[in-house]
Amino acid sequence: MQTPRHLLRTSDLQVKEIESILDKAQSYKDTKHCDSLANKTIITIFFENSTRTLSSFEIAAKRLNANVIRLDVSKSSTSKGETISDTAANLNAMDPHAIIIRHKNAGAGYYLRSQVSCPIINGGDGAHAHPTQALLDLLTLKEYFGNDFSQLKGKKIAIVGDIKNSRVANSNIELLTRFGMEVLLVAPPHFLPPTNLPTFHRLRDIAQEVDAFMSLRTQTERHDKQIYGSLKDYASQYCITKEILGNRDVVILHPGPVHRNIDIDDEVLKDKRCKVLEQVNNGVRVRMAVLEYFINALDIS
Ligand code: NCD
Repeated sequence: MQTPRHLLRTSDLQVKEIESILDKAQSYKDTKHCDSLANKTIITIFFENSTRTLSSFEIAAKRLNANVIRLDVSKSSTSKGETISDTAANLNAMDPHAIIIRHKNAGAGYYLRSQVSCPIINGGDGAHAHPTQALLDLLTLKEYFGNDFSQLKGKKIAIVGDIKNSRVANSNIELLTRFGMEVLLVAPPHFLPPTNLPTFHRLRDIAQEVDAFMSLRTQTERHDKQIYGSLKDYASQYCITKEILGNRDVVILHPGPVHRNIDIDDEVLKDKRCKVLEQVNNGVRVRMAVLEYFINALDIS
């Protein structure tokens, strides 16, 4: 039996593969139904809350005509004390073609891969990685900068907020730098990870020189204790406002859920430079392409 490939972090894919997956995603722009995963079974098992990612994966799978089985974690045997490793081995015995998992522990997918004979797709593991989010962000940026990967080179993006605790930031830093973007990290000191990238504490200091902003939610669920004065104080420094943007030609991304008027203000959320809903739309197409790529084991390398 062929050893399955897994998508646990963005570096599991080569540049050539990513370009091909994103091209495929674009070709799905108007596809609401096709049969490329007909008769395939996909299990989703999300141990952490999710609105966008879970529904996006499930819609993507259904558009490709796969059967989707959602495991309700609150009713699953892990809530009766079974280890997640045993849960994975039992799910695998039902011969699924892919398992999509979200878990609060970083590295959950690495731990489970020896238990399964199908691809594991990481829907977010702790503060470690969220590969499909970074892929959909890359597609949104590519479409904005002339729909050409080479146009990303040298463009500056500021990642703003709770970077240290964000799997979205981690995956984007790896992926966007690989595509030649200059990544600046903007956050209060306690939200910055150890890094070689340029770091800034004041959004205003870099607002004029970047081509893109990626705002992040404060990951309160990953803090042991409250590590900032108040969200209002934080917002006064890091909220993306019209005043920060001026009339500049920039693009604003956020993975959601957005804390309105803390991460991005109401006015900017309505501004056409803000691509939050376009990211969600791109997410379905990217996940269609990812599922097809891994399940049908299309190897173009
Ligand atoms: C993010 C996540 O869950 O990692 N959201 C998402 O997947 N769209 C970011 C977050 O929760 O802040």
